[in-house]
Amino acid sequence: MSRNKVYIKTWGCQMNTYDSTKLSHYINKELNFAIVTIAKHANIFILNTCSIREKAQEKLFHQLGRWKIFKQNNPNIIICVGGCVAAQEGEKIFKRASYVDIIFGPQTIHRLPKMIQDVYNFKKKLIDISFPKTEKFNYLPVIKTTQHTSYVTIIEGCNKYCTYCIVPFTRGKEISRPYKDILLEIQQLIIQGIKEIHLLGQNVNSYKYIDIDNNIITFDKLLIMISNIKGIYRIRYTTSNPQDFTQGLINVYGKIPQLVNFLHLPVQSGSEKILSLMKRRYSLTQYKNIIYQLKKIRPNIHISSDFIVGFPGETQEDFNQTIQLILDMDIDMSYSFIYSARPGTIASKMVDNVSLQEKKRRLYILQDYIQQQTKKFSSYMLHSIQTVLVEGISKHNQFFFGKTENNRIVFFKSTYNCVGKIVKVYINNFYLYTLYATFVSMH
Ligand code: SAH
Ligand code: F3S
Repeated sequence: MSRNKVYIKTWGCQMNTYDSTKLSHYINKELNFAIVTIAKHANIFILNTCSIREKAQEKLFHQLGRWKIFKQNNPNIIICVGGCVAAQEGEKIFKRASYVDIIFGPQTIHRLPKMIQDVYNFKKKLIDISFPKTEKFNYLPVIKTTQHTSYVTIIEGCNKYCTYCIVPFTRGKEISRPYKDILLEIQQLIIQGIKEIHLLGQNVNSYKYIDIDNNIITFDKLLIMISNIKGIYRIRYTTSNPQDFTQGLINVYGKIPQLVNFLHLPVQSGSEKILSLMKRRYSLTQYKNIIYQLKKIRPNIHISSDFIVGFPGETQEDFNQTIQLILDMDIDMSYSFIYSARPGTIASKMVDNVSLQEKKRRLYILQDYIQQQTKKFSSYMLHSIQTVLVEGISKHNQFFFGKTENNRIVFFKSTYNCVGKIVKVYINNFYLYTLYATFVSMH
């Protein structure tokens, strides 16, 4: 019998991409199935969905319709739907697409190999969209994004229930991973040559682990422990929330040189009224204060943020305040989105009184301001020396490439083999986020 071949399609955020990488790992390791990149070569199809924005359900059934055709030609094909839309819709997916075999949620991806086997053995449909408490952590494989940088999950889920957001419903309650497991994983990664650790979670700074002696480990304490691991060169994290950005966390920026000079701290809006309707639970004064204090400790820190435009009730004046915040806080980069009502959320019941055309106009203006900001900060980097963690060499033109601390890609030439090394370069040109440089020295 030929080896089973699995095709995985992923939509959505960093967490989802990370989950899909874990999925391929489980399937490969536990079932020894091959992962393929061309759909028509596969006999198992997995869709890892996202419901954060847009018309997620429609998109799902549209995609499933395409795979149905494969199944009509080969009834042995297995179709699995996972991710946040699966968690939200559950059994309803079987009702509308009877040819689907498995429905699993973001917290049960590690159970998928067993579910696939059960479908083969018992020829029945399976659904598991539960939120088993910490079980998922026990199955976490080590995933390196490149050979030199690696993601490490520290917390899953979210308890914040911002009024527009579907995540708490689909990914379940916040659960912090035992800190000893996190430290152990990082130690192993460092031994394997990883230089940069990227901590992941919906709200990493809500991290709170209480050990058997009742010691409370908060995010700032965890960062200190991580920074003490010998050989760790850079620490990044995504995403943090202004609500839990404690004084302790601000202070660690003065104590941990490995923490990068870059912070993604989503604010969503520059209007107090909108923040309150969003139930973000911090004021603009608090948000600004975090940045002011960080800049005192780290004058060169770059701030990135998320923005939602066209939230119900957002007036031109509220929007202007968002633009003003971008300028006042000197935001460098952003992910910005048009508000999209998510079924079941509080905001979806509010009167959405901003027309789509107006929302698009505001998004366009906001993104234009951000682009000017990005250009400005890149231009400040001209003629400076930057430290780069080199990720690889481009096959196309033999340029080395890697990232600066503030998340810009740098291309440069060198006669040394720089891959995996930390080097110093001199910046002599730029285009938005991309910088071009001359090699100076090994770090
Ligand atoms: N935990 C993170 C956000 C996770 S969701 C935080 O607290 O910021 C990622 C981003 O998607 C959010 O920051 C928000 O900008 C956007 N988003 C979430 N729900 C949305 C919705 N209903 N419409 C538009 N954008 C949304
Ligand atoms: Fe969503 Fe707010 Fe949590 S944006 S992920 S509910 S912090």
